[in-house]
Amino acid sequence: MDEANPFETSGLPHRYTDKVVLLTGAAAGIGRATALRLAAEGATIWCADLNAEGAQDTAAIITGHGGTARDCAIDVSDPEACAALVDDCVEAFGRLDVLCNIAGIGSSRHTVDETPERFNQMMGVNALGPFVLSIAALPHLLETKGNVMNLASTAGVVGQAYTAAYCASKHAVVGLTKAMAVEYGKQGLRFNAVCPGGVKTAIIKGFQPPEDCDWKLVERQFLRTDLQTPEAVAAMVAYVCSDEAYYLNGAVLTLDGGMTTG
Ligand SMILES: NC(=O)c1ccc[n+]([C@@H]2O[C@H](COP(=O)([O-])OP(=O)(O)OC[C@H]3O[C@@H](n4cnc5c(N)ncnc54)[C@H](O)[C@@H]3O)[C@@H](O)[C@H]2O)c1
Repeated sequence: MDEANPFETSGLPHRYTDKVVLLTGAAAGIGRATALRLAAEGATIWCADLNAEGAQDTAAIITGHGGTARDCAIDVSDPEACAALVDDCVEAFGRLDVLCNIAGIGSSRHTVDETPERFNQMMGVNALGPFVLSIAALPHLLETKGNVMNLASTAGVVGQAYTAAYCASKHAVVGLTKAMAVEYGKQGLRFNAVCPGGVKTAIIKGFQPPEDCDWKLVERQFLRTDLQTPEAVAAMVAYVCSDEAYYLNGAVLTLDGGMTTG
């Protein structure tokens, strides 16, 4: 996608005409790139994020280019707010085809320095949020034979030193994805997890390893040192959530330059 015009549509397929997408984490990074990509392919997008201004900006870019979008502030670790979010989206747009759980938080520290409060917060945003939103979305997705994409991480596939809480929360969302894929696959629903390694976004700042870390444990995560763009992840999500991927269910798709292959 042209960086000067993130809503550039020429050359893109139009896989989301008449589709409604509810997307969390829409204010920045992978969430914004995905919202713009899906909107450029014709989707109507509900942009949700803790960062109200950022979500509003994303929706404004979409509507400014002739697309349809709404935005709202939400804390995805609040189950009642999640249920209300799904209701609002369906009331506004009349249907729901795709749920993209992209909002997330992360940090790095020695496991012994982790606290139960921070662990719970990480689980609340990265795992409980997708769980509650998926349940609230289910009846609507059953009507449209829709799908859920959970933005997990390589930390949901392999262990990574100094990120025990983050790893636990991303493994949880991968488990949630697989369980729901098995339980609802026969009814025509799809649940998939996209698991990137290093993406150039704001969250990366929180992943500075502790100063006295064992660098050998950190370096083994990196086959390559450059970071990928959020647009590269958005392109994969655009395929995963489209009807082209109708046979893709319960998949845990790594996008990591080979980091998790050996
Ligand atoms: N950047 C990477 O290297 C990388 C790698 C693998 C996975 N991920 C995952 O990708 C997702 C998106 O992260 P990003 O890289 O775009 O970082 P980011 O920090 O740019 O985006 C995260 C978004 O989530 C929102 N958010 C945080 N807490 C929230 C809450 N309680 N309720 C609602 N929204 C909340 C933030 O406001 C922000 O807009 C996250 O789930 C992250 O774990 C990122």
